[in-house]
Amino acid sequence: MAPSTGPSRPGHTLAIVELVVRGAELDEVRPLQLAVLRPNGPLPGDRLPPADALHVAALRDGSVIGAATLVPEAWPGHGVVRQPSWRLRSMVVAEAERGSGVGRAVLDRAVELAVSRGVGSLWAEARSSALGFYQRSGWTVDGDEWIKAGIGPHRYIHRYLGSP
Ligand SMILES: CC(C)(COP(=O)(O)OP(=O)(O)OC[C@H]1O[C@@H](n2cnc3c(N)ncnc32)[C@H](O)[C@@H]1OP(=O)(O)O)[C@@H](O)C(=O)NCCC(=O)NCCS
Repeated sequence: MAPSTGPSRPGHTLAIVELVVRGAELDEVRPLQLAVLRPNGPLPGDRLPPADALHVAALRDGSVIGAATLVPEAWPGHGVVRQPSWRLRSMVVAEAERGSGVGRAVLDRAVELAVSRGVGSLWAEARSSALGFYQRSGWTVDGDEWIKAGIGPHRYIHRYLGSP
């Protein structure tokens, strides 16, 4: 008799755990954001998001594996962006979960949330190492690279929301 294969093999279970991406509270997203972005502790000038910030979490099996925060904060750069402009902060995916679309799912949900609040454009201080991630989702890089103290090279990015 041929050996059985795949998930029906006795003693083996195929676990497909659905990814849930939803609005969240600060205390749900903060631990992952700090673990990924501040592994050596906070930096001078770090501050908590304001009370009216919005948060997005991606959860698998109840654990937060991705997160982002939206803050009502005006675009600090030159040129015109569609108003009101909000800032995307602390976009993270747990290291073991990267490269499988979790980041894009969180970013898409953040954009949906912003659109639902009437936000005209989003901007961020993006790590240069992550620029391609944002560009693949339609974000525009603006200005020269600069060094954020204690972290490294950054560029400003923004994205218009809605139809041009
Ligand atoms: C940047 C980050 C959020 C991306 O999350 P992710 O779940 O790995 O991204 P996804 O799998 O959804 O990738 C979506 C697309 O972006 C691309 N991409 C992802 N990370 C990238 C990177 N660092 N550079 C260039 N492209 C990238 C993917 O290849 C994919 O492209 P595709 O359209 O060809 O499929 C994640 O790597 C991370 O948390 N990094 C550490 C923290 C960080 O730098 N955050 C950003 C702060 S500005």
